[in-house]
Amino acid sequence: MYVLHVEKLNKTFKGGLFEKDRHVLQDVSFHLPEGQTTGFVGSNGAGKTTTIKCIFDFIRPDSGKIHFFGTPLNSQSKTRIGYLPERPYLYEFLTGMEFLKLHWNLCYGLSTKDFVERAHEALKKVDLFEARDRRLRTYSKGMLQRAGIAQAILTRPDLLILDEPMSGLDPDGRAMVKDILHEEQKRGVTLFFSSHLLQDMEELCSRLVVVNKGKILYEGGLPDFMSEFQSLEKAFQVLKNREAKNV
Ligand SMILES: Nc1ncnc2c1ncn2[C@@H]1O[C@H](COP(=O)(O)OP(=O)(O)OP(=O)(O)O)[C@@H](O)[C@H]1O
Ligand SMILES: [Mg+2]
Repeated sequence: MYVLHVEKLNKTFKGGLFEKDRHVLQDVSFHLPEGQTTGFVGSNGAGKTTTIKCIFDFIRPDSGKIHFFGTPLNSQSKTRIGYLPERPYLYEFLTGMEFLKLHWNLCYGLSTKDFVERAHEALKKVDLFEARDRRLRTYSKGMLQRAGIAQAILTRPDLLILDEPMSGLDPDGRAMVKDILHEEQKRGVTLFFSSHLLQDMEELCSRLVVVNKGKILYEGGLPDFMSEFQSLEKAFQVLKNREAKNV
């Protein structure tokens, strides 16, 4: 069973006056097998964030079929998914604990009595337990990113979708996020995260979905991809040539 199945997703953004419409996702299809980590890689503007927003229906796709755990997204499957947006809005006047409480309350059907235990567990995982009663405005950038991840893993989700979890962090910050994701993998989570850097994927992913200009260029094993192409640039070149010959 696939934890997420995306089939022929299309999205067009309407252009303004004198502007053309932009077809930014073209028949995007991929799937996430249970318990595996899949990297979603593509250059800036390739369509990663738009794809992720469409699969949650935050923005409405023109067409496409999206199934989570075998069915369209519903209140039951929502409780099994953790999500880190590309630019999470963090209320700076809340403390770490209050921020997590807000998210806990927004999740349907969670019991209040479990909150403190789960929040402490998540904060320890991201190394923010000591800072839990400080306001978010006193957190560094790396701490804020980890607070966002704490929010995503708070409910011990079966599926974790993270949009650029390592973006803007220094090497220590990136290593820390990778350690957190390694721990989540041990828990058996199905993980899907985006980045424009292939090197972010190498340590964590067994599978890769490559998107370029709104089209999926590759879906498959990461080792196979690396031995065939070595780099994203080379993959873009070779796969585009292949596509041109097929047309
Ligand atoms: N609300 C919007 N209105 C119009 N165009 C949009 C909108 N959101 C995204 N786009 C366009 O859709 C394309 C894909 O953008 P998207 O944010 O999905 O890329 P991305 O792969 O996430 O890039 P990045 O690595 O920079 O985050 C871009 O050309 C972008 O300008
Ligand atoms: Mg993006």
